[in-house]
Amino acid sequence: MSAVERKTACVTGGNGYIASALIKMLLEKGYAVNTTVRNPDDMEKNSHLKDLQKLGPLKVFRADLDEEGSFDEAVAGCDYAFLVAAPMNINSENPEKEMIEAGVQGTLNVMRSCVKAGTVKRVILTSSVAAVASRPLQGDGHVLDEDSWSDVEYLTREKPPAWAYSVSKVLLEKAACKFAEENNISLITVFPVFTLGAAPTPVTRTSVPTVLSLLSGDEVQLKNLKGLASTGSLAVVAVDDLCRAEIFLAEKESASGRYICSSLNTTVVALARFVAGKYPQYNVKTDCFEGFPEKPKVCCSSEKLIREGFEFKCTNLDEIFDDLVEYGKALGILPH
Ligand SMILES: NC(=O)c1ccc[n+]([C@@H]2O[C@H](COP(=O)([O-])OP(=O)(O)OC[C@H]3O[C@@H](n4cnc5c(N)ncnc54)[C@H](OP(=O)(O)O)[C@@H]3O)[C@@H](O)[C@H]2O)c1
Repeated sequence: MSAVERKTACVTGGNGYIASALIKMLLEKGYAVNTTVRNPDDMEKNSHLKDLQKLGPLKVFRADLDEEGSFDEAVAGCDYAFLVAAPMNINSENPEKEMIEAGVQGTLNVMRSCVKAGTVKRVILTSSVAAVASRPLQGDGHVLDEDSWSDVEYLTREKPPAWAYSVSKVLLEKAACKFAEENNISLITVFPVFTLGAAPTPVTRTSVPTVLSLLSGDEVQLKNLKGLASTGSLAVVAVDDLCRAEIFLAEKESASGRYICSSLNTTVVALARFVAGKYPQYNVKTDCFEGFPEKPKVCCSSEKLIREGFEFKCTNLDEIFDDLVEYGKALGILPH
């Protein structure tokens, strides 16, 4: 592909789990990619970016969500900006500042760089189902779609596990929508559910070690899993499907607004039982989810994304886990 035909995308947080998979897919599709990391010299976190440079034109910039104007250079000249970096410390001691305020200001900071660039056709914001589904719901059988918002008032009052993560995602999305409207930016917000599968990054701190705690027995991660699946419901998407959906929504002119990205709704109880059956060589503690429901009380619907013309490639747990367990071994989360 000639440099003239080639589109350029910025992906923030290139050492992150989802961002690393998105960069790889964009390069494979012929995009030029600019990515940002907080510390480009940290080779423990960034070695995969050197390998990805073999796939196509990938430039790495230093940028911090907390520093105004930090993303100007990385976004300059880009057609699309994928906002993936976000504060992720769900166990922060100062969540109001480190999760909520940092999330909102960081998002606006990157969006201001997009306006300055003047070339960005669309911003694709990676939010989370935590912005949609964290709300008190009585009874069973709820199907949530893009009209649903997590309940900020309830979350700040009751402070359930990971409450500040959900509040951060709602408030940063609202701020991003307002800013996009005022500055005439086309904004798509994507809500991934639990995202699983192999990615290029050699270090992961989020969904991969959390779900693999079912096999590794890691107590801290098991506690995170219980907190994140506190209603018992757990929706899953393969990381490759999420990246395909993000690129699909960037390129699809008719796309607009919010999109849930979920290919499978299950429960943490069913998941534990599934991995115990599939991997008998691990000591899966299926009994540690006693009291959690057997069937999902809440399901997340990706009907809007499917109506837009998107097809999920990976829709069963077998495929997702084959890939995930191999990745967990490569990362050292699971023994070989
Ligand atoms: N994984 C999932 O299952 C899942 C599900 C739903 C939504 N999401 C969303 O997807 C996005 C990526 O998640 P992930 O799982 O890939 O997490 P991750 O691997 O922890 O990636 C987060 C990235 O954000 C960067 N970051 C954090 N604070 C920053 C700051 N102040 N300035 C610049 N960069 C900063 C991190 O950089 P450092 O390494 O320097 O900290 C890292 O590159 C997040 O918005 C998350 O909410 C993830």
